[in-house]
Amino acid sequence: MNYADWLKRKGLEYKDKVLYFAGQSTLNLIKTYGTPIYVTNEQIIRERYRSLKELLSRVYMKNDIHYAVKANSNLSLLKILNSEGASFDCTSRGEIYICLKAGISSDKIIYTGNMFTDEDFTFAVKNNILVNLDSVSQLKRLVLVYDRLGKEKETISFRINPEFGAGHHKHTVTAGKDIKFGILEEQAVEAYRKAKESGFKRFGIHQHIGSGIINALDFANPVEKYISIVKKLIETLDIEFEFIDFGGGLGIPYRPDEEPLDLSDYEKYVVEPFVELLSKGGRSNITIKIEPGRFLVAESTILLTQINTIKNNGFKLFAGIDAGFNTLIRPVLYNSYHHIIPCDLKEKGNEFEYDIVGPICESGDVLGKERKLKELKEKDNLAILDTGAYGYVMSSPYNSRPRPAEILINENSIYEIRHAETLEDLINAQKVPEHLK
Ligand code: LLP
Repeated sequence: MNYADWLKRKGLEYKDKVLYFAGQSTLNLIKTYGTPIYVTNEQIIRERYRSLKELLSRVYMKNDIHYAVKANSNLSLLKILNSEGASFDCTSRGEIYICLKAGISSDKIIYTGNMFTDEDFTFAVKNNILVNLDSVSQLKRLVLVYDRLGKEKETISFRINPEFGAGHHKHTVTAGKDIKFGILEEQAVEAYRKAKESGFKRFGIHQHIGSGIINALDFANPVEKYISIVKKLIETLDIEFEFIDFGGGLGIPYRPDEEPLDLSDYEKYVVEPFVELLSKGGRSNITIKIEPGRFLVAESTILLTQINTIKNNGFKLFAGIDAGFNTLIRPVLYNSYHHIIPCDLKEKGNEFEYDIVGPICESGDVLGKERKLKELKEKDNLAILDTGAYGYVMSSPYNSRPRPAEILINENSIYEIRHAETLEDLINAQKVPEHLK
């Protein structure tokens, strides 16, 4: 894919040397809203959702896309996806709470937590949320909660660890022998047998092998293993699954020279084996589910920043911006690459190599290492791309820097969907004991 097309798929283009995003001049956005600021393009989210929905529905009608809320839990994004007909995957009470506040109905939510507390179970059961258990030991406690609340046990699901994982970084691989998630093949029969005995009537099954998978072939082994486990459960326990969920993990091209995930390969290595299992076995009443987070929202958002300081330490050039790892932690935490481009394109002048650094008091606060850019100046603006997934949600007020605002562009309208935190927000939750007042 050439560079202009790569930018275009993310809603970006240069017009008269100014970077436009979702049809808006980034320089005008900065003038109105300041920096740093997360800017989201509603249409990209809708396009990504539709492309996946179309793919799934072409091969198998009974499908649900559960958006992984952990990627970005802004109310407006949830409402956009809800309006497209998405379902949702939540990992905490907080995410469920936000979904319900966004008007999402409880039957569209699956609760894939881990290390669940009794309070988590109580919250889920009270709100009629389907729980996807992460350990056989949790079943007993969940049953107690159902009984205590006098609620009918309906559907239960377990997360399987198929022992093969993948991901863009070892922290994002979520299946394998030293991984905390899910239950292993040999525990699965026991888990579903116990669930049946406990009075659950309907069953689902789930796996999620990791995050940021750009080569669909990486899914092949885990899918094969998972399918063999599903078959074994059907044969041994005569279980009628209501749904089979094969998780998220679909990657996006963060680098200009990276090809996007090949959706026809995803269809071949991931979707088709399940479809074959279900159609061969005469089980076409079973729903297949996937749980993408990043694929749906990462490319919908850019982070606009301003350069405050250009500095040469004698060895290296630094461009110091007003966003640091408090604003976007992925480069520091996973060594992740986020493409960084000027809002104001300079065609003349020399190219230099910069480390793009934030204002956090740590040397590790580098958002872009050794980036070659035309000479930068203080007060220039830079856009950090693909920040819609695991961007704002992983930000923090570290160094007592309030979190930034978020805005949404839909066609020609611009909305503030979260205002920037203020200095007061930094102390609002704190209490000072009497003797220190
Ligand atoms: N389902 C489950 C059960 C998950 O744990 C996750 C992500 C997803 C779905 C969605 O994965 P996705 O489609 O977005 O790859 N903070 C890391 C990513 C951690 C993902 C954790 N689980 C990052 O910034 O790359």
